[in-house]
Amino acid sequence: MEHKQLDQFPKDFLWGSASAAYQVEGAWQEDGKGVSVWDEFVRIPGKTFKGTNGDVAVDHYHRYKEDVALMKEQGLKAYRFSVAWTRIFPNGRGEINQAGLQFYIDLVDELIANQIEPVLTLYHWDLPQALQDEYQGWESRKIVADFTNYAQVLFEALRGKVKYWVSLNEQNIFISHGYLMASHPPAVSDPKRMYQANHYANLANAAVIKKFHDMDMPGKIGPSFAYSPNYPLDSDPQNVLAAEDSEDLNAHFWMDVYLFGKYPIAALKLLKEQGVAPIIEPEDDELLAAGKPDFLGINYYQTNTVVFNPLDGVGLGRMNTTGEKGSSEESGLPGVFKRVENPFVERTNWDWEIDPEGLRIGLRRITSRYRIPVLITENGLGEYDKLTEAKEIHDDYRIDYLKGHIHAIREAITDGVDVLGYCTWSYTDLLSWLNGYQKRYGFVYVAQDENQEGSLNRYKKDSFYWYQKVIQNNGNTI
Ligand code: BG6
Repeated sequence: MEHKQLDQFPKDFLWGSASAAYQVEGAWQEDGKGVSVWDEFVRIPGKTFKGTNGDVAVDHYHRYKEDVALMKEQGLKAYRFSVAWTRIFPNGRGEINQAGLQFYIDLVDELIANQIEPVLTLYHWDLPQALQDEYQGWESRKIVADFTNYAQVLFEALRGKVKYWVSLNEQNIFISHGYLMASHPPAVSDPKRMYQANHYANLANAAVIKKFHDMDMPGKIGPSFAYSPNYPLDSDPQNVLAAEDSEDLNAHFWMDVYLFGKYPIAALKLLKEQGVAPIIEPEDDELLAAGKPDFLGINYYQTNTVVFNPLDGVGLGRMNTTGEKGSSEESGLPGVFKRVENPFVERTNWDWEIDPEGLRIGLRRITSRYRIPVLITENGLGEYDKLTEAKEIHDDYRIDYLKGHIHAIREAITDGVDVLGYCTWSYTDLLSWLNGYQKRYGFVYVAQDENQEGSLNRYKKDSFYWYQKVIQNNGNTI
């Protein structure tokens, strides 16, 4: 629908930007930090682009004051970051490492002193290696108690200071990449193990949310889901059904559990038929029902266009992690769906489809199905950037991307969607897990290359100044 006039963004809208510990901090062995599964995984030859790792990353651990000063200059209202579990508990549990905890207390204090709302993610993929070694991490029910215990330490230490908490970042991604595609640690490729690990992650998510509410914590908590709304390629009923199936298996399979405490019927039935459904204990339903989030975090990058895929059709294909346009392979689930190119949208050099309208569609779907406020916890464009001799970065392509998506949010707000805020991915340039340092997302360019030999100096991109104006106008000129 087209509105004659668009609503204004709410006055207290959180104009923000985001990062994750492993991708920015560096200092991987400092101040008592333990080893995470990513610290180990990146050392296995061939796992990441050109063997890049987060040992130094963009050195945010030592430069956080400089980074927060840039946020202040830009006028940022919110900054989303994650805590490295291994800084708090080097071995996942046991004695608290005070120096590690202090880093986050200092960061939060620095943000608050600069009028920037901290949005804290409890888990952005860097599981303590000790828990992986001891009981296979997410593949054990034991993770629920350890994750809750870790979260409780942060709840107590930052009570009243942090008002927005994200429980798990992109459970759907770390589980599917970790246990099916084998591209993230622990590099398993087994659907049965994947769905079981996913079930324990659901329990851990619910337990932490329940703990937050039981402790009467001021503020709100919710998971961040990587949502790629599904489209059928055309109106062939087979393809429409394929899109419904993809929405069920790739989206409702997580969001329904977060919001309804139940898996979607058709998806669970299919997994049972295939013998890969998770074992669900009777008491699990109670916990899932008791761990309802206050908001849903959404990480939105692209939509997913599908057609029907016969039983002898394509399976998992290779992703483009090199930035060589067109190098990704076809991918699908035999008997259900396969992904195809959407002929109506452009693609990035990493083959990600650029579809601002898809964000509005996704926000509308969430609102209709779940009636919950949404915090957009990630959205952005990963591209090559060029530092000119004058030390400028003319990233007009990023400005176009963000402008289109902010406009789509404004339309969704006009449709009646309750959006709490918008965090771009990412604040500074950072390490892309599988794509190295050349795939850049930030408002702030960081001189860091694939050989990790850069000066680590920060330079403001054109998009930095553009977003500064957006914030000044509360988005209402878009
Ligand atoms: C999300 C993650 O999946 O997308 C981020 O939460 C990640 O950590 C971002 O960096 C962009 O993905 P990529 O693969 O381009 O780095």
